[in-house]
Amino acid sequence: MRAPESKRVRRAAPAGVFARLTDRAAIDAYANGEIVARFENYSLGVGVFGAGAANWLQKLRTGVPLGALASEGRKANKEIDLLASRLAGLGLLEYRLENPQTGGDLIVIEPLLRDYRPQIPQLQNADTLVLSRFAYMRRRGTEMVLESPRAGALFKILDPGLASLIATLATPQRVKQLRQMDTFPGLAFLALLVDCEIVLKIDGASENDLRKADSDHDLVLWEFHDLLFHTRSTAGRHTNPMGSVYPHVGAVSPLPAVRPRWPGKKIDLRKFSAEVPEAISSFAQLLDKRHSTRSFDDSQPITLSELSRFLEKTARVISSLKSKPDFDDGGVTVRPYPSAGASYELELYLAVNACEGLARGFYHYDAGANALVPIGASSHDLEMLLAEAKSAMGTSASPQILITIAARFGRISWKYSSIAYALILKDVGVLTQTFYLAATDMGLGGCAIGIVNIDLFAKMTGIDFCAEGPVGQFAIGRIARSRASG
Ligand SMILES: Cc1cc2nc3c(=O)[nH]c(=O)nc-3n(C[C@H](O)[C@H](O)[C@H](O)COP(=O)(O)O)c2cc1C
Repeated sequence: MRAPESKRVRRAAPAGVFARLTDRAAIDAYANGEIVARFENYSLGVGVFGAGAANWLQKLRTGVPLGALASEGRKANKEIDLLASRLAGLGLLEYRLENPQTGGDLIVIEPLLRDYRPQIPQLQNADTLVLSRFAYMRRRGTEMVLESPRAGALFKILDPGLASLIATLATPQRVKQLRQMDTFPGLAFLALLVDCEIVLKIDGASENDLRKADSDHDLVLWEFHDLLFHTRSTAGRHTNPMGSVYPHVGAVSPLPAVRPRWPGKKIDLRKFSAEVPEAISSFAQLLDKRHSTRSFDDSQPITLSELSRFLEKTARVISSLKSKPDFDDGGVTVRPYPSAGASYELELYLAVNACEGLARGFYHYDAGANALVPIGASSHDLEMLLAEAKSAMGTSASPQILITIAARFGRISWKYSSIAYALILKDVGVLTQTFYLAATDMGLGGCAIGIVNIDLFAKMTGIDFCAEGPVGQFAIGRIARSRASG
């Protein structure tokens, strides 16, 4: 399940590929080395860089051939790489592949991953290529774009002739055959698509089983729409605006908070519920008391004993059943919350920031053993994870404990077609409310968090993003005093 070691061998420096700035923001470089990107209504610091990077930034305004990078010193290269990854993360960097005939742009490549750099794997005439089943083309504004949820970059297709080549690749083709097409744009174009896993190099044996050719063990279980939804509705593998950016203000009226009533005669329920006066149950009180808490009392953080009770109460395995002898479905467990098909595909990973009795760090909750197991993630990545949660909650301090709810996708997609990812998200909702109610019951504070970063999680765990990845988050801790007493 660990991300496979890079198979990237025999890659050449990409000739004809140029890096340049996009026009999404204005970029200012100051004498002290600070680089700042200015968007419509706000500005964002890109970082402080040395002269080599500032010089490269200057060249980026007109476009710089990637091959030219090799001539920079090693230190400058490191800085340029960091600058490139920051600019790519903000959607401010793009690459163009030159049309060898006209010298104009053949395609424009927009990085989706911060560490994407165009690479040209070597292709031979005898190689067989096929389009990935995850690749798709669509209209974006007035452009045609070629994408894939697996890809580290998106391709703007500027020459309609390329679309016919892409369509031809629906069936496996030898490179030699492709070269004979009138619209053949040169090997570099194909190589860039192979590098992004939009086009796959397959061996003869897998031509008869294209689904397997396209997928390793983890990917084979994914359906196209599910993988696309997962990668575009989480952070880390795209550069689209995310979260509450109010994209339709002024253009479309907001929907009212309460749905307008249907025209029929209303049956007022209050008089019926009042008919049998009943003591308010502790459960009803719990529901009334539940609210989101974003500020925590760091002078008196949550204790390991409280955390243990919280996890045990909400998420432990209560009992397990083995598969039937005639059908191995991986077995079944019983846990405190419901789960679609009793799949229990959700796993809990804890970023511990402040907890009395437990060292700061990143842990997996082993629900079967009801135990925490440390994971050796870097402290920088732990900081990033906590900082992103802080920003999502709009608070000045990181949560005491941040629970990342990750899904073992294959546990559910092995069984269900078309609805696998939807079921996972429904399960996240169920578990989230269980967390809210347990926290309220224990006098702790909690808050669900809507944006998760799937790329960061993959880095922290070393698990491939399509094998197991985050689908939800929940922050918990001791409620700050003003709120607790209020
Ligand atoms: C799926 C989900 C995602 C949420 N994401 C966030 C978030 O990213 N940041 C945040 O501050 N609150 C988040 N919340 C909390 C809601 O803002 C909160 O539930 C809502 O405002 C109602 O307030 P209450 O929970 O105090 O009743 C989320 C809640 C849910 C259920």
